[in-house]
Amino acid sequence: AAGERERAGVRDGAHAGARPALFGPGFLADPYPAYAWLREHAPVHRATLPSGVEAWLVTRYRDARAALADPRLSKNPSRHSADRHASGRVGIPGERGAGLMTHLLNIDPPDHTRLRRLVSQAFTPRRVAAFEPRVRELTERLVDGFAERGSADLIDEFAFPLPIYAICDLLGVPAEDQDDFRSWAGMMLHTSGKRGGVGRAVKRMRAYLAELIHRKRLTPGDDLISGLIRASDHGEQLTEDEAAAMAFILLFAGFETTVNLIGNGVHALLGHPEQLALLRAGLAAGDERLLATAVEELLRFDGPVELATWRFATERLTLGGQLVEAGEPVLVVLAAADRDPERFAEPNTLDLSRVDNPHLGYGHGIHYCLGAPLARAEARTALAVLLRRLPDLRRASGAPEPRWRGGLIMRGLRSLPVEFTPAR
Ligand code: HEM
Repeated sequence: AAGERERAGVRDGAHAGARPALFGPGFLADPYPAYAWLREHAPVHRATLPSGVEAWLVTRYRDARAALADPRLSKNPSRHSADRHASGRVGIPGERGAGLMTHLLNIDPPDHTRLRRLVSQAFTPRRVAAFEPRVRELTERLVDGFAERGSADLIDEFAFPLPIYAICDLLGVPAEDQDDFRSWAGMMLHTSGKRGGVGRAVKRMRAYLAELIHRKRLTPGDDLISGLIRASDHGEQLTEDEAAAMAFILLFAGFETTVNLIGNGVHALLGHPEQLALLRAGLAAGDERLLATAVEELLRFDGPVELATWRFATERLTLGGQLVEAGEPVLVVLAAADRDPERFAEPNTLDLSRVDNPHLGYGHGIHYCLGAPLARAEARTALAVLLRRLPDLRRASGAPEPRWRGGLIMRGLRSLPVEFTPAR
C-alpha cells in the first residue's frame, strides 16, 4: 500500500513548485493557495495533522461530494484504526466524559436514520419559519447595543451572541439562563484547541440540559426540547440521554458555524466594496433575491467549516484514485472543494449573484446540515439588519490585520472591529 500511496501522492512535487505549508503560520489567514496546490497535485493527500494524527485530505469537488455520500466512510470514531487516540481528538473534546457521544455526527445508519428521523419531526422547516420574526428581534436588539456608539466588535457583540440566543430560544432555555449558555459557549470558543476549558463548559451544559429535559418532560411547552421528547417513530422515543445529546449537538453544531458564517461573511463583504454596494442597493430597493444568493456565495467563498469533520474507512477503498486502508481517517476539505475551478466558474471571485452554486458548505448526503434553514435565516437577517441600520459600516480605521481562530474544523475571525456613523 505504501508504494501505491507514493505513486498517487505528491507525484511530481519537484516540478510543481513547493506546496504552501499546511497548518503553518499564515495558513489560517489564507489557506486557499495550499488548497489549490493540493487539488492540482495531490487531490487525496496524506497529511500529518497538528495533533500528530495522520489523515487523508480530500480537496477536489467531485471527490469531496462522492466521499460525503459514501456509505463505506463511517462517522463513528471507534472505526479509527488508532481508536485509543481517536475519541479525544475527533468530534467534541470532553464529550466522552460528559456522555454525549451518541449524537448525529458520530453515528451511522441504522442508528443515524432513526435519530435523524426523530429530530426532523421536531426541528422542522415550519418551526424555523415561525421562528424568523424572533431572529429579527434578537438581531435588532444586538444592534441596539452598539448602534449609538459608532464602533463595535462585530464578533463579540453580534456574530457570537446571535446564534447562542437563537438556539437557546428555539430549544426553550428560559431567558434568565441564556447568559450561562453565552458564557459556556465563550469558554468553548476561546479555549477551542485547549481541552480543559472546553471539557468544563461541556459538562456544565450537559448537566443543565439534563435538568431542563427532565423539567420539560413534566411540563412540556411548544419549544424544540419538548418536541424532541414528544417525537416518536414506530412507538420509539428518544431516551433522556439521547435528547440531551441531541440538544447539545444542535447547540454545538449550530453555534461556531453561524458565528463564523456571519463574521467571515461581513469580513468578505467589507473587503469587496463593489459587491457590498450591489447588496445594499438590492436591499434598499426591497429586493431580497440578492440577499439569498449572497449568503450562499459567502458560504462558498469563505465558509466557516474547513473540513467536514472526520470520516473513517470501514474497508479498503479507492478515493479519487488513491488507495485508503480500512480504519484510516478521511477529512473532506469543504473549503477546498468549494473553490474547485472544475466545478465553479472563477472560483476565487466573490460573486454575490452566483446562481450555479451547489457548494458543499452544509455538507452533502445523509449528514447534510440539519440546521441549514436556521443558519440561512440567521445569516440573511443579520446581514439585512446590519446593512440597513449601519449604512456606512466599514472596518475600523487603524485596526490591525484580522486574526483568525481555527482548529481543524472551523475557521473564523477572533474579532472584527468596525466603525460607522452612530445611529439609533
Ligand atoms: C451537520 C455546516 C449551522 C446542526 C453539518 C455538516 C456541515 C454543517 C458541513 C455536515 C458535517 C459532516 O458531514 O461531517 C453548517 C454550517 C452552518 C451550520 C456551515 C452555519 C452557517 C447549523 C445550525 C444547526 C446545525 C444552526 C442547528 C441548530 C447540524 C446538525 C448536523 C449538522 C445537527 C448533523 C446532521 C447529521 O449528522 O445528520 N452542518 N452547519 N448546523 N449541522 Fe450544521
